[in-house]
Amino acid sequence: MGESSTVGKVYLVGAGPGDPGLLTVRGKTLLECADVVLYDALISPEIFRLINPNAELIHVGKRRGNHSLNQEEIIQLLIDQAQEHAIVVRLKGGDPFIFGRGGEELIALTQAKVPVEVVPGVTSGIAVPAKLNIPLTHRELSSSVLLVTGHEGAGKYQPDVNWEAVAHAADTIVIYMGLHNLSQIRQALLTAGRDPNTPMALIQAGTQPEEKIIITTLGAEFEGLENTKKPTLIVIGEVINIRELCQSLI
Ligand SMILES: C[S@@+](CC[C@H](N)C(=O)[O-])C[C@H]1O[C@@H](n2cnc3c(N)ncnc32)[C@H](O)[C@@H]1O
Repeated sequence: MGESSTVGKVYLVGAGPGDPGLLTVRGKTLLECADVVLYDALISPEIFRLINPNAELIHVGKRRGNHSLNQEEIIQLLIDQAQEHAIVVRLKGGDPFIFGRGGEELIALTQAKVPVEVVPGVTSGIAVPAKLNIPLTHRELSSSVLLVTGHEGAGKYQPDVNWEAVAHAADTIVIYMGLHNLSQIRQALLTAGRDPNTPMALIQAGTQPEEKIIITTLGAEFEGLENTKKPTLIVIGEVINIRELCQSLI
């Protein structure tokens, strides 16, 4: 990866979970004045409408089994763009550092002497349950939260999650990218001794117009979401009952 005589700066910007109202002020300002935006697959159309109409848009997104560019190519593209443009925005869903490979990009850009700034976003694992009246902690129900990836593909993120340890590590468990492996994950948590009656929420396309939520329990069968390509979060824990309680009070 060559070093650069950089004219610009790369901004690793978190777009939040989809609703443009959840983008940070700093993120919005940068989108409005960006020269070029390299974006992921999960960016919502409403966020796109905020981007400078004269900016060049480059899709570098990844979805399961469908990578338009590999990570090295994305990093090289960021370095190249920073040699031509003043404001290069690398736009990622949620927060760039939560299962977003932002850390790898930060290291590679810094190694290449490209100025870089991280603009945090609201991660989907926190924003999406919150918008659905699911507080991840609660004084009586949950003193701890664990964010974990359910994606165990070769060479991706953090394989070899110790689900037995996860089962007992926190009152509330939030699983990103877990839908594809959900039956194995549930089995592992149950085998480790997590109560089958623990509430479980599956939330698809949270904060977006096509949002869908299914509430079940860890041990129960359910239907309706298994084959979706839409982003889905899994939340496990007693705090889900707060949503149900609030609905019964309306
Ligand atoms: C590659 S990870 C990126 C996470 C992102 N950096 C963040 O902080 O939210 C993609 C996963 O995030 C979750 N996700 C992202 N946006 C979501 C949304 N609007 N609704 C539900 N889950 C979402 C899903 O589990 C999805 O498979």
